[in-house]
Amino acid sequence: MAVMGGKWLALVAIAAFAQVPEPKILRPPPPQPLPFSHRTHAGTGLKCVECHSMPAPGDFATLPATAKCMACHIAVKKESPHVAKLAEFHREGKPVPWERVYRVPDYVVFSHKIHMDVDGVSCQTCHGPVEQRDRLQVEKDISMAGCMDCHSAKQASNDCQLCHDQR
Ligand code: HEC
Ligand code: HEC
Ligand code: HEC
Ligand code: HEC
Ligand code: HEC
Repeated sequence: MAVMGGKWLALVAIAAFAQVPEPKILRPPPPQPLPFSHRTHAGTGLKCVECHSMPAPGDFATLPATAKCMACHIAVKKESPHVAKLAEFHREGKPVPWERVYRVPDYVVFSHKIHMDVDGVSCQTCHGPVEQRDRLQVEKDISMAGCMDCHSAKQASNDCQLCHDQR
């Protein structure tokens, strides 16, 4: 807590002197090690949470293990060089080195579970129509202003401590 307090003071000092950067929305899609498409996989009928399980306490949506993929790809599209590469990661016990798309800094408190319990909020609220995308990029604003806009709209707190206090 003491360490966090120091870091927090440093942040407030930065805020006082620096201009708040532009929200980083609509960055180009990062290059990915495999051409995984949410659009084509939506056709398999898999639900979001079947690949993005939210283990308790539910802070993270997590990325699927290669075993999840191989349940189909042991047979499906075996002839594809991309699927061969996927099978190789799996055989070697290595996770696919996906580039992250959405990310908040470590000093921000965020829980997926708490937000999924909010009325009218779905994955698409914060990530857009993922099931229509061949490649993902940041398309919804998860900057501080983006968080605070929804908190105001839904009468949730915008106290600094809510998102920046370490619990
Ligand atoms: C429920 C079955 C299923 C699961 C699970 C699944 N896939 Fe697929 N995948 C498919 C099908 C079916 C296609 C072909 C879709 C098409 O071409 O229309 C495909 C296509 C692909 C392709 C494109 C291959 C090519 O060269 O055309 C890649 C890459 C891929 N999947 C990666 C993955 C990864 C990575 C995972 C795990 C995160 C995964 N898949 C999980 C069924 C599945
Ligand atoms: C077959 C498994 C699978 C299904 C089903 C699936 N995803 Fe994904 N998802 C992945 C994989 C693999 C990645 C990493 C590659 C990428 O970013 O495209 C990913 C990445 C993401 C990311 C970006 C994560 C980051 O790096 O910040 C979001 C957001 C996301 N998925 C949301 C969804 C939503 C919403 C659904 C349902 C509409 C969904 N996913 C369904 C496998 C899946
Ligand atoms: C209220 C906004 C919001 C909602 C709703 C939301 N996400 Fe996220 N998502 C985020 C933020 C913010 C991050 C970055 C979190 C971080 O860096 O810790 C993120 C990150 C992710 C990631 C990257 C891995 C991780 O957990 O950091 C995946 C995958 C993802 N979300 C999938 C989903 C899926 C699937 C749903 C619906 C079940 C969903 N998200 C609902 C805001 C949201
Ligand atoms: C779509 C609307 C929406 C967005 C976007 C959103 N929030 Fe929230 N958030 C809420 C609502 C509503 C609550 C109140 C939930 C409750 O009290 O049950 C909440 C609660 C919280 C809480 C309190 C959780 C707790 O432990 O009680 C934190 C922390 C938080 N949000 C952080 C964030 C951050 C960080 C972002 C941006 C990355 C963000 N939120 C984006 C709607 C949103
Ligand atoms: C609803 C959640 C939320 C609340 C409330 C909130 N912040 Fe933030 N804050 C964030 C997020 C998310 C980021 C990371 C922004 C990014 O990476 O683009 C951030 C980043 C920051 C930064 C780093 C510089 C920057 O702007 O990127 C400072 C300083 C900061 N917040 C100060 C504050 C202060 C002071 C308050 C109270 C007036 C506050 N925050 C309230 C979510 C919140």
